[in-house]
Amino acid sequence: MRISIIGSGYVGLTTGVGFALKNHKVWFVDVDKRKVDMINRATSPIYEPGLEEALREVHSKGLVRATLSYEEAIKSTEITFIAVPTPTKDDGSIDLRFIENVSRSIGEALKDKDKHIVVVKSTVLPGITENVVKEIIKQVSKNDNIYFAMNPEFLREGRAMEDVLNPDRVVIGVEDEYAKEKLLSLYKDFVSEDRILIMPIRSAELVKYSSNAFLSMKISYSNLIGRLAKRLGIDVYEVMDAVGMDKRIGRDFLNAGLGFGGSCFPKDVKALSYFTKSLNVRNTLWEEVLEINETQIGELINIMKSVVGSLKGKEIVVLGLSFKPDTDDIRESRALKLIKKLIDEKAEKVYAHDPIAIDNAKKELSHDKVEYIYDLQDALSRADIVVIATEWEMYKNEELYKDKIVFDGRRVIRGEHARYYEGLSW
Ligand SMILES: NC(=O)c1ccc[n+]([C@@H]2O[C@H](COP(=O)([O-])OP(=O)(O)OC[C@H]3O[C@@H](n4cnc5c(N)ncnc54)[C@H](O)[C@@H]3O)[C@@H](O)[C@H]2O)c1
Repeated sequence: MRISIIGSGYVGLTTGVGFALKNHKVWFVDVDKRKVDMINRATSPIYEPGLEEALREVHSKGLVRATLSYEEAIKSTEITFIAVPTPTKDDGSIDLRFIENVSRSIGEALKDKDKHIVVVKSTVLPGITENVVKEIIKQVSKNDNIYFAMNPEFLREGRAMEDVLNPDRVVIGVEDEYAKEKLLSLYKDFVSEDRILIMPIRSAELVKYSSNAFLSMKISYSNLIGRLAKRLGIDVYEVMDAVGMDKRIGRDFLNAGLGFGGSCFPKDVKALSYFTKSLNVRNTLWEEVLEINETQIGELINIMKSVVGSLKGKEIVVLGLSFKPDTDDIRESRALKLIKKLIDEKAEKVYAHDPIAIDNAKKELSHDKVEYIYDLQDALSRADIVVIATEWEMYKNEELYKDKIVFDGRRVIRGEHARYYEGLSW
């Protein structure tokens, strides 16, 4: 198939490279010239394990090309995936700026084009594919030969290539046979047919929000049990290991800690909560999920203060900046929120380390009280108080923490050699 992908970020680039690995020809479109140029040089603009090698492979076979031109990409292809951001506004409502712009540009490029399918892969609330994307594209293109679908993405950053190539399931929201058959034949190469779920477009949109809200809820639930466990002197991990062994519950996403971040969970739960209220459906569950998540950092700060006293004037090492390990993504990272909080508490200096996310973190947080340090040993040599904020594999070496006062936000170590060790919820 000839496929165009609008938006070459974490979702667009990894799924597009996944399609190319199955020998489809893929055109990437982005407004960011730097990304377009990098992809055309077979260099990945983002970090994902295995992505750059895969990009090099498909690039060398002539299966991928990036461009700033919608016209070029759409005219050369038969199906277009939209993978641009869908952020949340301050009031919690979904921000459709990108989706609307992209729909107008696709509409322009589809004037006089023969049969074409437009698939929304971005996370959008029920109704948006039909009422916004389809409406704008039809209005601008005046073309009746366009078919629409919604295909939510479930990849996990840090495991994106693995998830793209071996998805648990594929959800396809469609309203006609043509789009259904095309998408079925595309995805049959990735997953067995009984794991491809065909449903109405709005249902597919709701699947994505329900999944993310449920996973977020599991994390906040564990954090709430973690608060209780902490006060009772119980190890919440021991409890959750037992709870999670129940097949009906499952052990995943039951790790208590600093909470969830990233570009999806916080914004999707906020958007779902706002949307639910706008339909006059009573809902306090998701507000609670967000509230617990937001206050986990304060819980850790309180524990730190109870051990070392006021944080005023203290020098502190923070390990980990990305929102989770194996990614350079710092969007909504708890670690950066924690550093801001330490500065609010008048810490004298924060020495921040991460194996790959420092450059992104610098763009988000630059402050004279924060020094970014690329070398782990160097970072650890700067101060005695250490906070582990992201569970990178390299932080698991107990020897690193000899004689340190360690506060562990993710239960990364046991603190065997630390002078003092305390976990957030254990
Ligand atoms: N990141 C994830 O783990 C993940 C997982 C599942 C779903 N999603 C959803 O997928 C969507 C994309 O997320 P992402 O993390 O890939 O975002 P991203 O920010 O990494 O990438 C988006 C890309 O779109 C480009 N872009 C913006 N406006 C454009 C325009 N008008 N034309 C062409 N390109 C444009 C940006 O330059 C950027 O490269 C969101 O709706 C998100 O909620 C993300």
